[in-house]
Amino acid sequence: MGEGAKGYNSALVRTLLGEQQTHPPIWLMRQAGRHLPEYRELRAKNKSFLDFCYAPAAAAEATLQPVRRYPVDAAIIFSDILVVPHALGRDVRFAEGEGPLLTPLEGAADIAKLDMSRLETRLAPVYEALERVRAAMDGDRALIGFAGAPWTLATYMIQGRGGERDLARAFAYQNPELVDDLLAILADAIGQHLIAQVKAGANALQIFESWAEDIPGHLFARLVTKPIKQAVDVVRGVYPDVPIIGFPRGAGHRVGQFFSETTVQGVGLDIAADLGAARTALGPKVCLQGNLDPMALMAGGPALEQAVDAILAAAATGPHIFNLGHGVVPATPITNVEYVMRRVKGLT
Ligand code: CP3
Repeated sequence: MGEGAKGYNSALVRTLLGEQQTHPPIWLMRQAGRHLPEYRELRAKNKSFLDFCYAPAAAAEATLQPVRRYPVDAAIIFSDILVVPHALGRDVRFAEGEGPLLTPLEGAADIAKLDMSRLETRLAPVYEALERVRAAMDGDRALIGFAGAPWTLATYMIQGRGGERDLARAFAYQNPELVDDLLAILADAIGQHLIAQVKAGANALQIFESWAEDIPGHLFARLVTKPIKQAVDVVRGVYPDVPIIGFPRGAGHRVGQFFSETTVQGVGLDIAADLGAARTALGPKVCLQGNLDPMALMAGGPALEQAVDAILAAAATGPHIFNLGHGVVPATPITNVEYVMRRVKGLT
């Protein structure tokens, strides 16, 4: 990556570096996915979700589907945060209708077995998908690479499934050294995975801390910001200038601490976060991203118009990337997404 690389001068990258746009750039979390009929068709041909993620042509196609349909300013590579634990040797499955299932990690012996040496080889198909997408897409659109944050991955690895976090927090209280070791290993793996994505053509990166929710204040630095900073530093050691967005879902009230302690360029805000308060906390130069409610996007009508306009008003106070506060839900009408794109670009 660097000057001359396709996408390096895109509106999304420039916004992340602090340049406010007349119309904020837009992309949507889970813009590739089940709300698109062409995705459902492609998905039906790729029965195992993980195999789908590891099939470069299919993953590139899924990434490009929303780019063809919508005037988005960025594509996010079609993959999953759980490819990292999988590449480290953990057992990861996606059960129909149940979401991800992992064999729960139990203790020191399981942590000692995590195998960094095969990470890049096992994830090579993801990097090939990025190369294909970067080659197929115009330079005015950015390509976003991503990873789950250490604590979010640790939560999935300890609990063995999504939705539940109590065991993971109990594990952190009962085994402080083990959890610190695990987070450090994951931060390193995430850093390596992000570097390889930039090498393959990603212009910006997002770190998903999906489980920043309900972490007591005294643990926030240890579980959330310090491990993310470690991953960020690994990336910066190789790519000092690639912009990184951190998304601390459920911790919108701690954006100031999150931003200063992780040193990311942009902060993604969830549905409940207050854009005005975040702007006050971070000042006029930091890039914010978010935070339209996916349910407003699904519902449409006057409520959607009002919600979009409220975010556009807040976006006028500094660099902002228009996005949702969480992923597009499968029942979302395509016409509602088209409407938001037009509205954000000032066409309606
Ligand atoms: O378009 C994009 O945003 C890029 C692709 C992407 C996926 N997952 C594809 C996917 C991204 C960025 C993710 C991140 C991810 N994965 C997160 C962080 C964001 C968040 O939601 O908080 C998490 C927690 C996961 C783990 C995960 N993967 C879950 C909980 C699920 C099941 C949820 C569901 O909707 O069924 C997945 C599966 C998954 N990842 C799908 C997609 C499109 C649905 C799989 C399918 O098509 O059957």
